[in-house]
Amino acid sequence: MKLLIFLSFCLATVSAGNNTICTSGFTLVNSKCWKLYPDPANHTIAERTCTNVGGTLFMTKNAIDNRALASFVDGSGVSHVWMGLFCIGNDKSFCYFDDQKGSPTTYNNFAPGFPNSGVGRCVYYSVPGSPGGQWINGDCTETLSYVCELPPTQPDICDINFNNNCYFRLEDQPFSTAQLECQQMCGNLVSIHSAEENRFITSIYSQSSYDSIRIGGIATSKDFIVWTDGSTMDYSNLEVFGSSGNCLWLSLQTTEYHSKGSWFTGDCTTPKHFVCKRPIGDLNCSATPPPPTSAPPTPNPPTCSTGTYMAPGIIASPNYPGQYRSSCAYTLATYGSNKIRITFNYIYTSNSDVISMYDGDSGDAPLIYQQYSTYGTTLKTYISTGNTMYVYFKYNSGATSGYSGFNATFYSVF
Ligand SMILES: *[C@@H]1O[C@H](CO)[C@@H](O)[C@H](O)[C@H]1NC(C)=O
Ligand SMILES: *[C@@H]1O[C@H](CO)[C@@H](O)[C@H](O)[C@H]1NC(C)=O
Ligand SMILES: *[C@@H]1O[C@H](CO)[C@@H](O)[C@H](O)[C@H]1NC(C)=O
Ligand SMILES: *[C@@H]1O[C@H](CO)[C@@H](O)[C@H](O)[C@H]1NC(C)=O
Repeated sequence: MKLLIFLSFCLATVSAGNNTICTSGFTLVNSKCWKLYPDPANHTIAERTCTNVGGTLFMTKNAIDNRALASFVDGSGVSHVWMGLFCIGNDKSFCYFDDQKGSPTTYNNFAPGFPNSGVGRCVYYSVPGSPGGQWINGDCTETLSYVCELPPTQPDICDINFNNNCYFRLEDQPFSTAQLECQQMCGNLVSIHSAEENRFITSIYSQSSYDSIRIGGIATSKDFIVWTDGSTMDYSNLEVFGSSGNCLWLSLQTTEYHSKGSWFTGDCTTPKHFVCKRPIGDLNCSATPPPPTSAPPTPNPPTCSTGTYMAPGIIASPNYPGQYRSSCAYTLATYGSNKIRITFNYIYTSNSDVISMYDGDSGDAPLIYQQYSTYGTTLKTYISTGNTMYVYFKYNSGATSGYSGFNATFYSVF
């Protein structure tokens, strides 16, 4: 017993020495923050619960973490837990982690015969068995216990501490005053660098009724955002680039025009609620932000290629904007319990060449809509109910000139 106390004292000291902590009642395991939710829930509810605290379902990407999960739930009586992984095919390369980082082709612990998306696209972790901790596909409507995951952080005096940054919610200011207020707190208007951070920012307003908030970006074009803290643009969720201003607003509700979590451009002078962000421990406002010099990422030119397109992205008819001469099938996917929202920016097709959208990952799924030509610029939007959408463009007409086809943008929405 004495030895045990001594050992746990050492362990506590080792982790405290590094100052890595977990927030929101999560437990530090290796370098991850986990929390077990023993009450069974279907996959959608499980994801939603994790998202509401700014996290995801847990993901293990190496053998050490995978074994640690079994020890973590040991003694709770729980034997199966949902994990942050889903598969749209029977090969590991068709499985995606909730944080969209890494791939189960690098490390996985699927049970023999898995992945098998025929059984279900969601993946759970089985504690018993030999070896323990195997990954098995399950029907997403099944109810199981689950483990959520948050990034670890460092201690700070702020209330909202996430992934080594402090966040502050402030009230109604135009862009320039908001940025000044943030600087007085040693921070800047918030910049957002991953889907996780974007979900987190959205989640801290889950109890509010605001439609949107101001974030710290200025969009100079649909594809280029300058962040006021000088950080590089390495993630974008800009959905609507409008004409009413260049300052970025983040939508907190899904409306006719915006999806929850998406960004759109708005007026810079309108007073808006806003979020400041400062790095952990940086209570000494000495540094001035480096000038924004980052190069815009070049979006992949839309082509027709087989395989899966992960959101966000853009698809177009073959040879766009030249005349198409073939059919094309596109499987659009996003992670977890998010949905696909597709917006056609432009359609000019022969009326016998139809674009069909299906609510799933193949043409066997329920049809959402068949889109015929609308001759020109459009803004037609369709949303899937699950995390995949199959789009099939059928070239029936034999037309060899005159039609430039279509282009469409697709996003991941909550
Ligand atoms: C602290 O530990 C975490 C997780 O083990 C590690 O990622 C991080 O680099 C460590 N930080 C320092 C300053 O040693
Ligand atoms: C998950 O459970 C909720 C609440 O019980 C229910 O409304 C929803 O339809 C379920 N979804 C799925 C995909 O089973
Ligand atoms: C704040 O920064 C200044 C200039 O870099 C330094 O001299 C001072 O010691 C710092 N104060 C604290 C509390 O870190
Ligand atoms: C898609 O169509 C819109 C509207 O015509 C156009 O502004 C945009 O440049 C097109 N995108 C691509 C990648 O061609």
